[in-house]
Amino acid sequence: MFKILAFETSCDDTSVAVLDSNFKVHANLISSQLTHEDFGGVVPELASRLHLKNIMKITKVTLEKAKLELNEIDAIAVSINPGLIGALLVGVSFAKSLAYSIGKPLIAVNHMLGHVYATKIKHPNLEPPFLALVVSGGHTELVNFHSFEDFEIIGKTQDDAAGEAFDKTAKLLNLGYPGGPIIDEIAKKGNPEFVRFPRALNRKDNYDFSFSGLKTSVRNYILKQNSDFIKKHLADIGASVQAAIVDSLVSKTINYAKKSNSDKIIIAGGVSANSMLRKNFKEQANKLGVQIIFPALEYCMDNAAMIGAAAVDKYKRKEFADLSLNAFSKKGLRFI
Ligand code: KG4
Ligand code: ZN
Repeated sequence: MFKILAFETSCDDTSVAVLDSNFKVHANLISSQLTHEDFGGVVPELASRLHLKNIMKITKVTLEKAKLELNEIDAIAVSINPGLIGALLVGVSFAKSLAYSIGKPLIAVNHMLGHVYATKIKHPNLEPPFLALVVSGGHTELVNFHSFEDFEIIGKTQDDAAGEAFDKTAKLLNLGYPGGPIIDEIAKKGNPEFVRFPRALNRKDNYDFSFSGLKTSVRNYILKQNSDFIKKHLADIGASVQAAIVDSLVSKTINYAKKSNSDKIIIAGGVSANSMLRKNFKEQANKLGVQIIFPALEYCMDNAAMIGAAAVDKYKRKEFADLSLNAFSKKGLRFI
């Protein structure tokens, strides 16, 4: 059995984890940067500085929690893309120095692939082929995995990501950041049919997504109402926006699953924590007779355990990076 120390600093969470070759998590610490709440979104420069300030301490505490010394670690894994370049560089530089100083291999991980591998923590035997919907704050991709190294992108967002649609709606309604969990919560008491917001690219055989029209539509709707009405119907408006986002994600994924005869669908990324998304996907998948798999809730949002999980197979294949490894911001799952 081998143990991996993993780092995730692609956005506003500094996370360090230890995971073993059986996908067992020994420790997974996440320090969320609250500073960004004041700005209604992540400020890249502040994110990098906070990663730098915290990464050493979080690494020490992670090893303590895992009851391990640094010399008991077999490899260092780090997410290198996509993400905020300054933020990624902190993790990559730190991981490189650590790998060099303890003389252990370095493993580069694509953050999106990490989200998909997060499901392996609960389902260690899960293997492709499967269809995966990866929905986060920066990405929305429908991907057909033939194997973990051989996959094709079936559809992606043409503009905003699904999580971004939640975040921007929450900002328009002055609800705080990140918007997804807040809207998820208030929507539980609302009527999802209160307003019919648009479902974009709603055409047969179109598997791309678009959420910027929804954002404009929500904005126009809010501007037309007075503040008492908004206050009274906050839950209804939140539930209606959530329904529009969830409908697009579920219908396109299920339609492609039907077309391609997929028998397994994985939903990953921060938005996969959404309760309505989980409920609707489960209902549709049951009807279709396909298996639907989500990561455990604690591994949906950015975390280093998922980076360690993606590194397990790379360790077995001896797919190691050298010390010239660099971070890059290029979006998507395909690039590494
Ligand atoms: O995967 P993630 O932690 O970071 C990125 O890689 O972007 O995803 C963060 C996104 C945010 O947009 C957040 O609002 C959204 O995931 N999110 C949710 C929920 N929890 C997090 N969206 C809807 N419902 C949730 N329960
Ligand atoms: Zn993410």
